[in-house]
Amino acid sequence: MKLKIITLFVIITSISLTAANHAHMIRQSKMHNMKQKNPLLFNVLAFGAKGDGLSDDSKALLAAWKSACKISGAVIEIPSELKFLIKPVTLQGPCMPNLVLQIDGIILAPAKIATWTKFSLYQWINFKWLHDFTIQGSGTADGQGYNWWDSSSHNSQIKKVKKIPSIKPTALRFYASNNITVRDISIRNSPLCHLKFDNSKGVKINNITIFSPGNSPNTDGIHLQNSQDVEIQHSNVGSGDDCVSIQTGCSNIHVHHISCSPGHGISLGGLGKGKSLACVSNIVIENITMLNTLYGTRIKTWQGGLGSVKNVSFSNIQVTDVKYPIMIDQYYCDKINQYACENQTEAVAISGVEFNQISGTYAIQPIHLACSSSFPCIDVVLDSIQLQPSKKYGALIQQQLCSNSYGKSSGLLVPESMDYCVRSGSDFIRRISRSHDVSC
Ligand SMILES: *[C@@H]1O[C@H](CO)[C@@H](O)[C@H](O)[C@H]1NC(C)=O
Ligand SMILES: *[C@@H]1O[C@H](CO)[C@@H](O)[C@H](O)[C@H]1NC(C)=O
Ligand SMILES: *[C@@H]1O[C@H](CO)[C@@H](O)[C@H](O)[C@H]1NC(C)=O
Ligand SMILES: *[C@@H]1O[C@H](CO)[C@@H](O)[C@H](O)[C@H]1NC(C)=O
Ligand SMILES: *[C@@H]1O[C@H](CO)[C@@H](O)[C@H](O)[C@H]1NC(C)=O
Repeated sequence: MKLKIITLFVIITSISLTAANHAHMIRQSKMHNMKQKNPLLFNVLAFGAKGDGLSDDSKALLAAWKSACKISGAVIEIPSELKFLIKPVTLQGPCMPNLVLQIDGIILAPAKIATWTKFSLYQWINFKWLHDFTIQGSGTADGQGYNWWDSSSHNSQIKKVKKIPSIKPTALRFYASNNITVRDISIRNSPLCHLKFDNSKGVKINNITIFSPGNSPNTDGIHLQNSQDVEIQHSNVGSGDDCVSIQTGCSNIHVHHISCSPGHGISLGGLGKGKSLACVSNIVIENITMLNTLYGTRIKTWQGGLGSVKNVSFSNIQVTDVKYPIMIDQYYCDKINQYACENQTEAVAISGVEFNQISGTYAIQPIHLACSSSFPCIDVVLDSIQLQPSKKYGALIQQQLCSNSYGKSSGLLVPESMDYCVRSGSDFIRRISRSHDVSC
């Protein structure tokens, strides 16, 4: 027995030694190639990074950042073929314009929960106060979130034993930043949300890949909050929660050519939680494919909230085996027991929502518009929607559910009964309902 353990130990040690040696060799050859010094290039290896996936390379990254930040058009290089273990860090501006973080290798978050300090729990990498900044490259940011997802963590008893904190980190988070581009990279296995923008303006996301398993809880793909002028395009997002989540304070958001699978689809909200003010406007979601997601296009608001959702269009959405392709839920409540959320008269007002060219197969309910009786949804447009029950999940099929939604329908609607989902009379409702707009 003892001999076996020793043998195993020797094998494991030699494997990690080989890996470290291998990294060392790659590192040496890359360092050699770096001799020709480009004054704009800041390779983390030159700042002491080991790239073996075991040594803490955060200090090297911070040092490279600090130097590059002072030079216009500088590039911080995380080279390919190597893995860099990065502890939670803040990469802070203001920096000189056109700084680039070139991720060609793999950056890894600490896998052990115990290594995250109390103050680092909000995010892994915090990009703060940046202007004209780009992240690009063929590399990957890996949040190694497995330990945070443990499904048994829903059970508070086990949670205590396993010490999973109630705050879980987002992988890459931007705060108060303008003119930001994120392209080409992959982000995977975040403990929580993968890519988040907060209080930011002028964001372009293009050709990125996000992936974590469908059963990883609360792992939103891209999460936007208080951000404006955002374009998200040509990307693949698969996760355990929303593909793209648009929260309060967002306007002028354009999402197109995204493929979502698995996950919970593209969602506005939950808005107005705890009687808060929510303002969302001018949102265009188009040319999307969704496969096997829980929801497709969704707006969810909590009862008792204030503010409004205005001018939203979902068009050319191809759904396959999506459980609920079209949903507005003004009675959103995440409690297991729905009755825990009492009915209230205030609601986030919803107007000007267009669902256009939504087609494919649904697994449970083709359309669900549960609008508030005190603030009905107005100017809702259903145009050319063709949804067939999925052959694979036929047994679960429910009838549509539509209440308090006003607007108009046009084009071919399948199932035909969907026509009754929007009643005429938006103008009348607009006149009699108190407006919340003043608060937005
Ligand atoms: C954003 O970038 C564009 C083009 O690169 C530039 O013209 C503009 O001034 C930048 N805006 C801000 C707020 O930095
Ligand atoms: C998308 O990103 C990958 C690297 O992840 C790159 O190889 C490819 O050329 C990019 N495609 C476009 C159209 O930029
Ligand atoms: C609705 O949103 C679109 C896209 O952002 C914008 O072009 C349009 O002007 C908005 N319409 C109104 C009435 O605000
Ligand atoms: C989305 O697809 C439609 C129809 O193919 C096309 O007219 C439109 O330009 C596309 N939108 C974008 C932003 O590419
Ligand atoms: C709240 O209102 C909705 C819609 O009228 C109704 O379906 C639901 O049963 C009500 N819930 C409670 C707790 O009264």
